[in-house]
Amino acid sequence: MPQPAHIIDGKAAAAALRAEIGTEVAAIRARSGLVPGLHVVLVGDDPASRVYVTSKEKLAVEVGMNSVAHRLPTETSEADLLAKIADLNADDAVDGILVQLPLPKHIDTGAIIDAIDPAKDIDGLHPINAGRLAGGKTGLVPCTPLGCILLLKQVLPTLAGLEAVVIGRSELVGRPVAQLLLQADCTVTIAHSRTRDLAAVVRRADIVVAAVGRPHFVQADWLKPGATVIDVGINRMPDGKLAGDVDFAEAVEVAGAITPVPGGVGPMTIACLLRNTLTAFEARRG
Ligand code: GUN
Repeated sequence: MPQPAHIIDGKAAAAALRAEIGTEVAAIRARSGLVPGLHVVLVGDDPASRVYVTSKEKLAVEVGMNSVAHRLPTETSEADLLAKIADLNADDAVDGILVQLPLPKHIDTGAIIDAIDPAKDIDGLHPINAGRLAGGKTGLVPCTPLGCILLLKQVLPTLAGLEAVVIGRSELVGRPVAQLLLQADCTVTIAHSRTRDLAAVVRRADIVVAAVGRPHFVQADWLKPGATVIDVGINRMPDGKLAGDVDFAEAVEVAGAITPVPGGVGPMTIACLLRNTLTAFEARRG
């Protein structure tokens, strides 16, 4: 009888990563008197974004960082937001800048991301950082993809040579996670809404990363028995509960290891944001 999958505990992995970061921050403070500074900019009052920003602020304080949230009104103009970014770029005490997305519709998101100093772009979204990642160079890497790779490395002895299928081609998750899998020597396929016979493509995969934003989209009978499944989806269901992009209840009987939602990739995202803040601090002031 096949065993049910190992359930990957993202909450525990994130807590361990934050503890490690806390130790490093304390050592930096003891050595230099300096403290890494994380600045999050929130424009407007989207309820989900407010929750995320509060949580980023709180966890940054917990690891000993200097954490500042800049809450700006919805009607903030693009010019005013660009001026705020310029101030943060110029401030030496600011190591990491994150502009919470989505921005209100009257603001051009691309123009804002382009304005962030790439050395402080802890979201890894600036074209310079995206280009470095695509070129296989080191740099600041988007947080959710980084979290996915850290979880994979925890459960797989090596990623080299494995077939990885990423479902979704977004700038924030699908594309960067595919680049990181390639850096780890996987054979990578990026599937998307126009992929023919998605089930057959997914069935080849030793690693499946689902980042489509559709609840329970990935079916258990698409999976190769024993596959490692990373579910990036966070979908709010009509009953208020969260659901992933994978049909977890069925997939757990086929996969070798799988992340739950909630408690899988989600907690790793903020831990990786703190990791990136430390990386940015060390690169700028280390
Ligand atoms: N909104 C949802 N996820 C993210 C993220 O990873 N970064 C930013 N800046 N905004 C988000």
